[in-house]
Amino acid sequence: MQRALFSRSALLAQQAAAALDAPLAARSAALLLRLDRSMSSVSIPPPACMLRPLEAPLRYLFGPGPSNVPPRILAAQGRPIIGHMHPEMYEIMNDIKRGIQYIFQTENNMTIAMSGSGHAAMECAVFNTVEPGESVLVGVNGIWGERVAEIAERIGTSLRKVLRTRANVHRMVKAPGGYFSNKEIEQAVEKHKPVLFFLTHGESSAGLCHPVDGIGDICRKHNCLFLVDTVASLGAAPIFMDKQNIDILYTGSQKALNAPPGTAPISFNDRAW
Ligand SMILES: Cc1ncc(COP(=O)(O)O)c(C=O)c1O
Repeated sequence: MQRALFSRSALLAQQAAAALDAPLAARSAALLLRLDRSMSSVSIPPPACMLRPLEAPLRYLFGPGPSNVPPRILAAQGRPIIGHMHPEMYEIMNDIKRGIQYIFQTENNMTIAMSGSGHAAMECAVFNTVEPGESVLVGVNGIWGERVAEIAERIGTSLRKVLRTRANVHRMVKAPGGYFSNKEIEQAVEKHKPVLFFLTHGESSAGLCHPVDGIGDICRKHNCLFLVDTVASLGAAPIFMDKQNIDILYTGSQKALNAPPGTAPISFNDRAW
């Protein structure tokens, strides 16, 4: 059976040679024939698609993200791999940190490029600052505030559904694209006494860039952390983490920053850390 499968794959590779890069497919066919003889315990054959070079067409991306990546950034991804303990790696990591400090306009030491999506940074920010039993206030004027509220509601739950004390999540709700005045925010902070207040800077589901001036001061006055999502806005609209007293800020690589998806820059100041 296995031999038949490998022989079939080798045949496919030979057929691919006619239509594709002939030397590549011919080499692959030879490899498959060798596998046919040596890997008798393998029951799943290599898929024929693995014999084709990867094709990604050029598309103009006009949504909030992912966005087109400039050639300089694409070329940087083709650099050789080095070890995570090599001195050059530490230098590269420090350069990346300095770059994020610049785009966030912050001097926070705890500034990193997390591996993951914007959602990963969102979860990281909420789960590292709120404990079960504590209060969280979330500005909901589109899908991203609602997403954060849902994440915060899981604090204190467990996979086995043994419910302990959970976080108390309070939503300030506006119609999609609606705007919260600083007065409304202060009233809600006074009422719910949250340890964390969340706001989306660029609400991509509704097309709103929310002003953040003065909100950090309100949060400090009430001993609350100010968390801002700039996944869709950083690089497109100004933000000044330190000057605007933002305690935790995160973004995504794949939107206005024009980098490949998979990196989530995030920064915590000393109040949050
Ligand atoms: C404002 C905002 N926050 C968070 C996210 C989630 O980012 P990701 O898709 O990288 O998980 C998005 C994605 O569109 C977004 O626009």
